[in-house]
Amino acid sequence: MDNTKPTNQRQLQVRISRGSEDGTFSTYSVPWRENQTVLDVVTEVQRTQEPSLSYRFACRVGVCGSCAMTVNGKPRWTCRTHVSRVEEDGVIVIEPLRNMPRIKDLVVDMREFFEKWKRAGNTFVGTATRNDPPAMISPQSKKRKLADAAIECINCGVCYAACDVVSWDKEYLGPAALNRAWTLFNDERHADPKDVLSKATSGSGCNSCHSQGSCMQHCPVSLSPTGSIAGLKRSSILSLLRRG
Ligand code: SF4
Ligand code: SF4
Ligand code: FES
Repeated sequence: MDNTKPTNQRQLQVRISRGSEDGTFSTYSVPWRENQTVLDVVTEVQRTQEPSLSYRFACRVGVCGSCAMTVNGKPRWTCRTHVSRVEEDGVIVIEPLRNMPRIKDLVVDMREFFEKWKRAGNTFVGTATRNDPPAMISPQSKKRKLADAAIECINCGVCYAACDVVSWDKEYLGPAALNRAWTLFNDERHADPKDVLSKATSGSGCNSCHSQGSCMQHCPVSLSPTGSIAGLKRSSILSLLRRG
């Protein structure tokens, strides 16, 4: 379908993947505005030309992680991606995130992504009761620094979409779940860090990562799942040596 309308204002051509199968695109024309984001463009298409277009967003300020899509071939958070940074000859192509089943248009099913968080051992079990004083973890503690460096994940799924190993091996836990496992492993309030390490290491866990860093390059909040996964690998070897 071609919804391009002639106009005197400079126009941006937007190709959006539609439906629930790969390969069907509709083309729209929207006015080129200063500082517009990719999410602004999708919203404008939905509000003015294609009311049935499905997509997700919530906060619009880079906090909730719900707006991620593939833009000109790369996974990105669309509410913080300016059109001027990604357009190619006045065209942007918008598709759903890779590596997750598609529901419709730009909406993917993230159940498997979050299921893997559980499989990676990411359930916090505290040692304190509600009657205990708050845990005093020094900001200078080495473990706290390691956890803090990886904690600001917004669950956007961009790293998961950028990971080739996820494409090849559907069982691979993926960068976000393993990044979270690393924070929990280093959380000094957690009752069973050995359980986290065991779950994050077994099967298609951290040892399946090839360490080439695509997740790290694409993470919109500059986390390094690659570094976290390397930490899990190191810790699992140390744990084996200690047992040995
Ligand atoms: S470094 Fe590991 S987790 Fe990150 S994209 Fe590559 S294989 Fe995936
Ligand atoms: S690690 Fe980064 S890219 Fe991956 S889900 Fe978290 S915020 Fe998104
Ligand atoms: S809409 Fe919340 S991060 Fe983009």
